[in-house]
Amino acid sequence: MSTGSGAPYVTEPQRPGWPARLGPLVVPAGVVRLRPVRLRDGPEWSRLRLRDREYLERWEPEQPGSWRDRNGLAAWPSQWSGLRRLAKRGECFPFAITVDDEFAGQLTIGNVIRAALRSAWIGYWVSSTQAGGGVATAAVALATDHAFTAGGLHRLEATVRPENVASLAVLEKAGYRREGLFLRYLRVQGAWRDHLCYATTVEENGEGVVARLVGSGRAAWPDER
Ligand SMILES: CC(C)(COP(=O)(O)OP(=O)(O)OC[C@H]1O[C@@H](n2cnc3c(N)ncnc32)[C@H](O)[C@@H]1OP(=O)(O)O)[C@@H](O)C(=O)NCCC(=O)NCCS
Repeated sequence: MSTGSGAPYVTEPQRPGWPARLGPLVVPAGVVRLRPVRLRDGPEWSRLRLRDREYLERWEPEQPGSWRDRNGLAAWPSQWSGLRRLAKRGECFPFAITVDDEFAGQLTIGNVIRAALRSAWIGYWVSSTQAGGGVATAAVALATDHAFTAGGLHRLEATVRPENVASLAVLEKAGYRREGLFLRYLRVQGAWRDHLCYATTVEENGEGVVARLVGSGRAAWPDER
């Protein structure tokens, strides 16, 4: 199509980088992949989240309703369709994390804003039975590289409670920088909690986060196993 002025008429894709399947990447816990969340993830999603309430609830923003209501099997279809709607509008990348092809958590890139900002936040959780096995670090690395390439983003931010040492370790291993402290930022478990802001931009990720992780021996491509 032509604009009539001789210049080609270029339209940006509405949702660059979505849908996507990322990985595999091998870490001590197993083979990590990211793929879009599915309606049939419901039973495993609910089983893990009901079992891991204590481990998850102290880090997640408060929502209306009880933990059981919000994380029971019946809650998944509306969660999933809400995420899918946002993804179709190009505002969100809602990934399931799998380890050895089993559902093991979620990684979401949300609040995607394009134009001159090209920024988003990144959030994640991983099943307690996989904790410490490098899963979240691999997932953040895969998602960050994707967001900065096919996803067309320029900056990613993560906000973390200062007490969440595991999440801070994940971000630091993935090359995110500490930018500041947001006072009384989010309501978590009955109080307004301070959160550290971490961020990274395309300029800091020359060779890619995955390549750096592999180079440092924290992860491997499958054929190097
Ligand atoms: C945060 C979370 C996603 C990390 O997932 P994970 O797969 O265990 O992460 P990784 O194994 O990639 O890395 C975790 C790192 O934290 C370190 N860590 C974990 N607990 C720790 C502790 N109590 N003290 C110090 N380091 C700790 C691990 O040793 C590991 O670092 P290492 O590889 O250098 O040894 C997971 O704990 C989780 O889902 N927590 C609940 C939800 C949550 O906090 N989400 C993030 C909100 S910002």
